[in-house]
Amino acid sequence: MSTQLNLILLGPPGAGKGTQAARLVEDFNLPWVSTGDMLRAAVTEGSELGIKAKEYMDAGNLVPDDLIVALIVERIGEPDCSDGFLLDGYPRTIPQADALEQALRGLDRSVAATLLVELDDEEVVRRLSGRRMCVKGGHGYHLEFDPPKHEGICDQDGSRLIQRDDDVPEVIRRRLAVYHEQTEPLAAYYEDRGMLKRFDGSRTQTEVHDHIRAALATLRLEDSV
Ligand code: AP5
Repeated sequence: MSTQLNLILLGPPGAGKGTQAARLVEDFNLPWVSTGDMLRAAVTEGSELGIKAKEYMDAGNLVPDDLIVALIVERIGEPDCSDGFLLDGYPRTIPQADALEQALRGLDRSVAATLLVELDDEEVVRRLSGRRMCVKGGHGYHLEFDPPKHEGICDQDGSRLIQRDDDVPEVIRRRLAVYHEQTEPLAAYYEDRGMLKRFDGSRTQTEVHDHIRAALATLRLEDSV
């Protein structure tokens, strides 16, 4: 098996997966594979997948496994993923994890590490209620923790900031319930395989990033000996 950085970012909604992914893909020059972003792009395009997915996403439910698995198996087989990738938001169920393991085995590859960013429910609600994204580049902000310099405007590309449709209180609560029921069991799944690394998502963005980088540096050292 190869020792590529085939990485998974796991954690509840709002734990900071996207925030950390943006930094890690720069650090390690990896393609960022976010199922949430892929699905939102499909919704915007109005593709068949987008039309099917929208109803589930708006309600805070998971899009059915068959739709997601096909999307990811195809994506990780693309040339830019051949030296490693960062999965953000996948897998979210045990069948999705099994499908990933099987697809990677077929390519003589395996998951290098699953990075679990942990955060309690109360903090999730606070984070997601204050989150804003820019319409152009998808750059993320938080009204309290990471505000833009000018209200409602992206610092990086000057476009308008909006709130995601699923960042409203009742949908946030549903997303959390779905996480606990269907996604949290993946922590034990990867722990049993010796692939899980836990991080305290309540620390600052920079602290979480430093901790993940340190863990990945250790992993690479272990792989090289
Ligand atoms: P997705 O887009 O993946 O949403 P999510 O997992 O709910 O995660 P979020 O993007 O909401 O949060 P995040 O952890 O990335 O946090 P962020 O960094 O933005 O999925 C959306 C939907 O798509 C799902 O509900 C489902 O319907 C569908 N879907 C996607 N993948 C699927 C799959 N595999 N199977 C089936 N369905 C699927 O941070 C949040 C806020 O906090 C930001 O404002 C940020 O600035 C701030 N922040 C971040 N870190 C810190 C920190 N350390 N301190 C203070 N503030 C911080």
